[in-house]
Amino acid sequence: MEEQVYSMPRIGDKAPEFKAVTTQGDINFPGDYSGKWVILFSHPADFTPVCTSEFMTFANMADDLKKMNTELVGLSVDGLYSHIAWLRTIKEKIEYKGMKDVEVKFPLIEDITMEVSKRYGMLQPGESSTKAVRAVFFIDPKGVIRTIIYYPLAVGRNFDEIKRVLIALQTADNFSVALPADWRPGDDVIVPTAGSCGVAKERMESKDEMHCYDWFFCTKKLEEDKVLKALGK
Ligand code: BEZ
Repeated sequence: MEEQVYSMPRIGDKAPEFKAVTTQGDINFPGDYSGKWVILFSHPADFTPVCTSEFMTFANMADDLKKMNTELVGLSVDGLYSHIAWLRTIKEKIEYKGMKDVEVKFPLIEDITMEVSKRYGMLQPGESSTKAVRAVFFIDPKGVIRTIIYYPLAVGRNFDEIKRVLIALQTADNFSVALPADWRPGDDVIVPTAGSCGVAKERMESKDEMHCYDWFFCTKKLEEDKVLKALGK
């Protein structure tokens, strides 16, 4: 029998290319999303409770993400008609945490062959060999994978964290800074570490806008409105 290949893309890799059938028509990934950020995510199965709660939450945040030049693309190993039936059920029947009449307008990929799931390391056989885990890939406008988060089958994703990571990635790019632990817009940001003894000395002696905890760890203010404006919000 032919050996199964499960590859794992890494942060910094180009997003693997594929063509797929989705609930919004055929897509050519990531080419169709050139110039945009994409959150590509997998879920284990249609008509399951955790996934339903997640899809309603993703659909609810889709417009907010669009304002940040970001599109959602979902995937599971179910077929197209199952996807369509499930999304219709969500819209027509499910009321959850104040969300109702929720229309999932972003594409949901059918991946019955598991070709895409395997390429993206979404099938993790120790967890399940037939269902994708809850993977989240943040892909930038150049088609480069910038963050990967995995959750197991039994635990729904943290959507505050997904949004925080997206904002942090865009802010890191927009302002050439790094973001410290638990950073949120309005918190201080980290300036690139001094690259020479001279700069290190200057930073420790200067009384300008930076605050240096030590020569290699300096922060500066970055107002929330500047962060949000750069995101297009
Ligand atoms: C769920 O989405 O509820 C689920 C899916 C697969 C395994 C366990 C839970």
